[in-house]
Amino acid sequence: MIERGKRVFVNAYAQYPIVLNGGEGRYLQDIEGKKYLDMMGGIAVNLLGYNDPGLNKVLKEVIDNGLLHCSNLYWNKWAIEAAEKLTKLSGMERVFFCNSGTEANEGAIKMARKFGNGRSEIITMENSFHGRTLGSLSATGQTKYQEAFKPMVGGFKYGHYNNLESVKALVNANTCAIMVEAIQGEGGIKVAQEAFLRGIREICDENDLLLILDEVQCGLGRTGHYFAWQKMGVLPDIMTLAKGLGSGVPIGAIVTGPKAASIFVPGDHGATFGGNLLATAAASYVLDYISKEGFLKGVQESGQALFEGLTAIKNRHSHLVKEVRGVALMMGMELTIPSRGVIDECRQAGLLVGSAGENILRFVPPLTITVEEVFEGLSLLEAVLESL
Ligand SMILES: Cc1ncc(COP(=O)(O)O)c(C=O)c1O
Repeated sequence: MIERGKRVFVNAYAQYPIVLNGGEGRYLQDIEGKKYLDMMGGIAVNLLGYNDPGLNKVLKEVIDNGLLHCSNLYWNKWAIEAAEKLTKLSGMERVFFCNSGTEANEGAIKMARKFGNGRSEIITMENSFHGRTLGSLSATGQTKYQEAFKPMVGGFKYGHYNNLESVKALVNANTCAIMVEAIQGEGGIKVAQEAFLRGIREICDENDLLLILDEVQCGLGRTGHYFAWQKMGVLPDIMTLAKGLGSGVPIGAIVTGPKAASIFVPGDHGATFGGNLLATAAASYVLDYISKEGFLKGVQESGQALFEGLTAIKNRHSHLVKEVRGVALMMGMELTIPSRGVIDECRQAGLLVGSAGENILRFVPPLTITVEEVFEGLSLLEAVLESL
């Protein structure tokens, strides 16, 4: 299978040598029947784990209705319901559905430019990650992703994460927005300080800028709050979502507060597949699921167990582990050695974990992971570290 894949795929990914075939709960199975505890969650996508009967049921209902896609020339109830639930959960006003995180950010960038009405600069952060299409890639403050594809889209300036003065220094009469992740994911699981985000909100208010929070990775319950900014008490003007929103069905969303709700008018923006029935039915189900009483508490408990367990491992293996950081079920473990070898050994041992940079292990499991499953993952990881 892998040989066949190598012959036909564009060589865009450094794929691990396993072929996945099925899943149940928090466990995945490869094509040879080997089972893995999944602490990577499809890179923070499979929010509810695998083979959730309720999600399967709503998807089948859409299929049985006979309409998978109806274009945005017409209304459909699945998209309307999903948007209603998103606005209710976030306390924000309006939604634009698209297909991915990068596409959500592209739309947000366009909104910011139009809002700017001649002011076109957007401040983002060094070490950020906003996606691979040219606008979002230009917003991404990591030259390693940009170098081969220059020239980038103009108008982006990069502040230092958690350094408010560096952001203030970039604001000028041409600035229209600031875009930031509440927790940098690809950038190495780095958490924004509350004072930093609040300070950015103030800068936006004082200078009539839009605050865009990219919650593509950290949103939708992962931090033990519906959205990471709710934990930090900072309200964005635009929030972008994707990854876990469909728990495996591709969907992205731009969610706006009052300041951004009326920027787009017909003709300004569009997405053929945006609001697709299967995708929005999945999103609607996910939003109901994470709104259930006790769900976020469960995330907080599993997240606490993960943090404490990783910290204990760090203390026992301080020559291999430098730092543990993150919030709830978005955790990073900075190693003193490259992460790739550890990830390979974990996989052999039946545990899927990811990386977020050269030396950082990333844990973004399904949010349904239990404390017992967290313990199982921790003991598999520790056995691997001991064997090194
Ligand atoms: C914070 C953040 N924004 C945007 C993206 C891009 O999302 P997508 O891969 O769906 O385009 C990612 C992907 O990792 C992300 O972590």
